Amino acid sequence: MNVHDSEKVQGVLLARGMTPVEDLAQADLVLYNTCSIREKAAQKVYSRLGTFRKGRSGAAKAIGVLGCVAQQEGERFFERAPQVSLVCGSASYSILPQLLDQLEAGKSRVTGLALDTEECFETEMTRRDNPFRAYLTIIEGCDQRCSFCVVPMTRGPQRSRASDKILSEALGLVDQGYTEIQLLGQIVNAWHDPSPARLSFAELLSRVAEIPGVRRLRFTTSHPKYFTSDIVRAVDAHPTLCNQVHLPLQSGSSAVLARMLRGYTREEYLEKIHCIRKARRAISLSTDIIVGFCGETLEDFEQTLSLIKEVEYDQVFSFKYSPRPNTPAEGSGDAIAEEEKGRRLAQLQEVQRQIQVRRNQALLGESFEVLVEGYQARLGQAVGRSTTNRVINFPGSPEDIGRYLTVKVTSAGPNSLVGVRAENEA
Ligand code: 5AD
Repeated sequence: MNVHDSEKVQGVLLARGMTPVEDLAQADLVLYNTCSIREKAAQKVYSRLGTFRKGRSGAAKAIGVLGCVAQQEGERFFERAPQVSLVCGSASYSILPQLLDQLEAGKSRVTGLALDTEECFETEMTRRDNPFRAYLTIIEGCDQRCSFCVVPMTRGPQRSRASDKILSEALGLVDQGYTEIQLLGQIVNAWHDPSPARLSFAELLSRVAEIPGVRRLRFTTSHPKYFTSDIVRAVDAHPTLCNQVHLPLQSGSSAVLARMLRGYTREEYLEKIHCIRKARRAISLSTDIIVGFCGETLEDFEQTLSLIKEVEYDQVFSFKYSPRPNTPAEGSGDAIAEEEKGRRLAQLQEVQRQIQVRRNQALLGESFEVLVEGYQARLGQAVGRSTTNRVINFPGSPEDIGRYLTVKVTSAGPNSLVGVRAENEA
């Protein structure tokens, strides 16, 4: 989502007639987008800002901070990093053009920090980084208030975009040559159509999947609470809807889930998985897990391990719990020592590594369609991605980029596959 926010902000700058520069030292304006989901990401910001200080031959340059750390720190930036002249959280990006006007008019401290917005960040122009896959935001903010999570405090309330706006953006993307669309939202499947069409999320998926020219449609990130069987039916009905679901678990222990305020139990989560596993096409599953949440006992942690072994995800993103400012769980007791969090994380990652080795090995000899996303000249290897979001390297050429090719798996590691072209372009 942050990557796509940056793309939209670049669109705002391009629309003002600005041009991007390769070298930071050449820039008249630097907008630094930031993340505060965990403390480590937030800590980087001030040290990184230090490297932006010197302008071209000492000339003053305007530096702005965007994103979640901007929202969290607010005007404190002006004290701790006096080179900063603009601070704007993502809920205020819709007023970014006005803020830039104020900067250009000579104001030295400009802020966009309101969180009570009902607006989405709509911009006429978006500069997308990838020429084949386009991100498309359908819902911003989050109202869930999971006790560990800073997002509701930094991205503001949930705002769904109207289905007609989403569909016309999708049509425009196809016209521009994009073949893969990824619908985005912190809580993508909580999307509600504010327009009179009143489409459900599954109906929206179907409508986008049916647009001629869309070859692949993905959506991320789903919340288990809102994951309904009609989403699985939409995947079954539309081959263009990728057979891949990212469904953050966070913990396999119902007691921890309750303290996280996730709104589901272990059993309810497993029911969703069961529903996904019954789909006609095998749906690839990935998840997010937090280890060492306050009060997580060894027994709780064992339950997370057992769930991972039971579900056999294709990918797991796992993190040590990091207390975040102003979250419900901040300062709650029973903190787990960092060392113990590290031990649990390593154990979980090793269990998952073995699962991935096994699952990827099972693909040896199979062929599937990939969208070629890159080419590594040094190795003569093209890099493709399957509908199940698996990365596969195979001998190819730079011209392959953007093509859909069929590739046969010849060897498999825990995180990627190696293959050869199975036939001509699909
Ligand atoms: N500490 C550690 N991990 C976190 N995440 C969110 N908040 C925290 C936190 N305070 C993880 C969750 C989420 C992913 C994007 O980041 O697993 O799904």
